[in-house]
Amino acid sequence: MPASIMFEVLEQLPPDPILGLSQQFQVDPNPDKINLSVGVYQDSAGHTPIFKAVKQAEQQLIEQQRSKAYIAQAGDADFNRNISRLLLGDALVNDLGAQLGAVMTPGGCGALRMGGELLAQVSGEKQVWVSDPTWANHFPLLQSAGLKLTKYPYYDFQTGAVNFDKMLAGLRAAQSGDVVLLHGCCHNPTGADLSEDNWDELIELLVERQLVPFIDVAYQGFGHGLDVDAYGVRQAVKACPEVLIALSCSKNFGLYRERTGALLVITQAAQQTAAAVSHVLAAARRNYSMPPYHGAGIVGHLLNDAQLTSDWQAELSAVRERMNLLRKALSDGLNQAQDKIDFSFVAGSNGMFCYLGIPREMVLQLRAEFGIYLLESTRINVAGLSETNLPVVVERVAELLKRSA
Ligand SMILES: Cc1ncc(COP(=O)(O)O)c(C=O)c1O
Repeated sequence: MPASIMFEVLEQLPPDPILGLSQQFQVDPNPDKINLSVGVYQDSAGHTPIFKAVKQAEQQLIEQQRSKAYIAQAGDADFNRNISRLLLGDALVNDLGAQLGAVMTPGGCGALRMGGELLAQVSGEKQVWVSDPTWANHFPLLQSAGLKLTKYPYYDFQTGAVNFDKMLAGLRAAQSGDVVLLHGCCHNPTGADLSEDNWDELIELLVERQLVPFIDVAYQGFGHGLDVDAYGVRQAVKACPEVLIALSCSKNFGLYRERTGALLVITQAAQQTAAAVSHVLAAARRNYSMPPYHGAGIVGHLLNDAQLTSDWQAELSAVRERMNLLRKALSDGLNQAQDKIDFSFVAGSNGMFCYLGIPREMVLQLRAEFGIYLLESTRINVAGLSETNLPVVVERVAELLKRSA
């Protein structure tokens, strides 16, 4: 065999902590294992279903499609228009006109990265403030675009909610022109969201200090509803002169593997938006050139059709209600089964994730002794629970807490 030229110097990297845990789960021989670590919605059978309305839109799209030629580099016009309207509402989109720019991206991650590349084009080292904690992937996505990330206080482990006063105090250290990364709703990993009053107050600070919000919206419709979940984003767009939004259709349209998302750019003038979009397109060109179409084509088509849109909304509501029931059942069950930790905060969290707030060593015990998998941060995916495994999780967690007396 010829000698290696260059690759022998590479060392194997450790697996991604979240993806690695799923691999560990797959090979765990425990027949009663339960996976609460995954980042996808699951139904009561542990299956990640395709929304019926999405499937129907996909079938119609395939039927109508006559070419696989590239689409415009900024993406499908139906998708960009419809997804902007879904998030911001018709009135705001109409008011903004050409001050709003949309570029279709490979998923929400593509939007985050393209937003990061845009920010890196603006002169000076760009400082981005991220919540403590935040979704782990925010760091590599934005740092590799050349941005400097600093944490602002967010989650209070004592209350299981946002420590809003600390958050504001932390952000007062930000300088004019800094960027603040916010989760539009259903904060990942904590499930702890800002209230509407919190958003109003935060936005006042952003405006006063000339801070630019970069809002990550990956779970619209998973919290309280499509419009309620968009409250903070809409208020920010109304009040702040410049806003970036990274939008993902992975969860609310169930299109994970189709890589469907968009970067929205809002500035004070059509010309500035056009210039910013040109930089995003240049960044896309040098990274992946053209966006994937299939998922965006489905969403654009679905949202063009009133019946499909209403069918999809009904399915999305059922998903949300299921998660809310599970969250409440987990919170009540844990509170009834032990008295070491008050788990009421679990019922107040939003979306797919929340922290369980148990000691870290118990996370490892749950995995080793009972085959129950959650992230070491104690993040669980509520949708990984089911009517059958929930009582088991409650019993095991309570057992470990009692044992630790
Ligand atoms: C907070 C957050 N942002 C963005 C994303 C982007 O997801 P995707 O790139 O799959 O659309 C996710 C997905 O898990 C997420 O949790």
